[in-house]
Amino acid sequence: MKHKPELLYLDLLKKTLSFSLWPEPPMPVTTFNCLRSPGKRMVATALSKTFDRGTLQIVQKRHFSASERANGQVAPLYADTMIGLRRLDNLQHCIEEVLREGIPGDLIETGVWRGGACIFMRAVLAAYGVEDRRVFVADSFQGVPKPDASRYPADAGDRLYKNTYLAVPKEDVEDNFRRYGLLDDQVVFLKGWFKDTLPGAPFDKLAVMRLDGDLYGSTMESLENLYPKLTRGGFCVIDDYAMPGCKSAVDDYRATHAIASKIIEIDWTGRYWRKE
Ligand SMILES: C[S@@+](CC[C@H](N)C(=O)[O-])C[C@H]1O[C@@H](n2cnc3c(N)ncnc32)[C@H](O)[C@@H]1O
Repeated sequence: MKHKPELLYLDLLKKTLSFSLWPEPPMPVTTFNCLRSPGKRMVATALSKTFDRGTLQIVQKRHFSASERANGQVAPLYADTMIGLRRLDNLQHCIEEVLREGIPGDLIETGVWRGGACIFMRAVLAAYGVEDRRVFVADSFQGVPKPDASRYPADAGDRLYKNTYLAVPKEDVEDNFRRYGLLDDQVVFLKGWFKDTLPGAPFDKLAVMRLDGDLYGSTMESLENLYPKLTRGGFCVIDDYAMPGCKSAVDDYRATHAIASKIIEIDWTGRYWRKE
């Protein structure tokens, strides 16, 4: 039954949310100004001011292979998620498994950016007519925090907090849900730093927790507050295992809590395991 309507819907959604149906468009040269040295920033700004005349824009051409795009190795211009098709496939697999096996609990992503992965979580529930589970959407909606090196030495010197590309306002994420017809009371926003929002988050049980906060601290705060609520048989998905800080947090948490469940590779950076 390759052409079941719910599978066709989810397949199309993964492609639209990740912008995989179309070539990756050129990026305005000022998009990553926040990460440039003052000198380079001045040149990029001056260039774009000189040539931008209402209808013109200075952009940079970018070429990505199909595999780079499927593996989420692109900083996309229009996509609602940067995680790529393989990690979206994994998310679908995890949710379908908990539905099939009746593993109780809600779904959460910590670190949502434009919200695409959470929109997809809500879509999977919709596709299977599930009305008794919610999707929690946890983010500062202002980017990554400044590193707290005294608490998390692994994050010392991290500069991601300067990256304004990662700061997407909550209203924009809500609009993204609305555009797909998926903003309703099964979607709950947890706005703020994880250290403040996750400890009292209003759910008892989780079936799928997807962590995408990049830093050691953000990953550790998510694990500490959420993993105890993950139902046995539920899925813990890690987006950033290729980032040394995130990997250390995962390895440290698993060692401290003697978690022996096998870590399974999704792609170059995605990993997951099932709670035993
Ligand atoms: C790489 S992006 C997430 C990508 C997203 N999952 C997707 O589908 O494209 C990282 C996100 O984590 C958020 N973030 C990181 N650390 C955080 C923290 N400690 N508290 C709140 N938000 C955080 C940032 O605001 C950003 O939106």
